Amino acid sequence: MIAIDGPSGTGKSTVSRRVAAALHAGYLDTGAMYRIVALEVLRAGLDPADQPAVADLLPRLDFDSPTDPEDQRQVSAGVDVTQEIRSQAVTFAVTPVSANPAVRSWLLDRQRRLARSGRMVVEGRDIGTVIVPEAALKIYLTADEGERARRRHRQNRAAGTTDAGDVGSVALDLARRDRMDSSRVHAPLQAAADAVLVDSSGLQIDETVTRVLELAAERGIR
Ligand code: DC
Repeated sequence: MIAIDGPSGTGKSTVSRRVAAALHAGYLDTGAMYRIVALEVLRAGLDPADQPAVADLLPRLDFDSPTDPEDQRQVSAGVDVTQEIRSQAVTFAVTPVSANPAVRSWLLDRQRRLARSGRMVVEGRDIGTVIVPEAALKIYLTADEGERARRRHRQNRAAGTTDAGDVGSVALDLARRDRMDSSRVHAPLQAAADAVLVDSSGLQIDETVTRVLELAAERGIR
């Protein structure tokens, strides 16, 4: 099991997916789970910051999480929401939703079960610290802020997000989310004490993938 944590825009998802594919392992995007909850909160007309109301919605949610690195279609209540969970509205709502302890503990069981279901690369913010602290390799992926904003902006446009904004607004949004993710009380974004720091600034995606695969091989994962 490989845990990959870090802030947004570091290339974390692409790197994690490619590492999983190279190792013929599964891949779990835990951020997508928080995004699906946030989307359903908005669809239900709830205030994402209303913690009891959001907690009440949880038992009614119905989604499976894909673990195939080559097929990451996300379906909730029978509808393909792969694109919609990347919208600006969901990206805003997911911050208070992911700070809600009821949401975190509800997702924790699923995430642990899926993470422990076989050879897996699991990506998120608290994977090495909370979800699978026993992971054989923990990576904390970083990159400098400007580069992260440029990457995320490019990624939004490539994904066809209609409200992608400009690089400046993406940078502000990343800084806002990092601040909130790092300062929340429950399972904040932080590197596990035994995580290997990988700085992807100035590295191509392929080079970052190679670095992670080298670290995996050093631990006998190949
Ligand atoms: O990686 P992402 O941007 O898709 O994640 C969406 C949000 O979910 C992000 O703002 C932080 C939160 N998140 C979290 O709190 N814990 C995780 N393990 C994964 C994501």
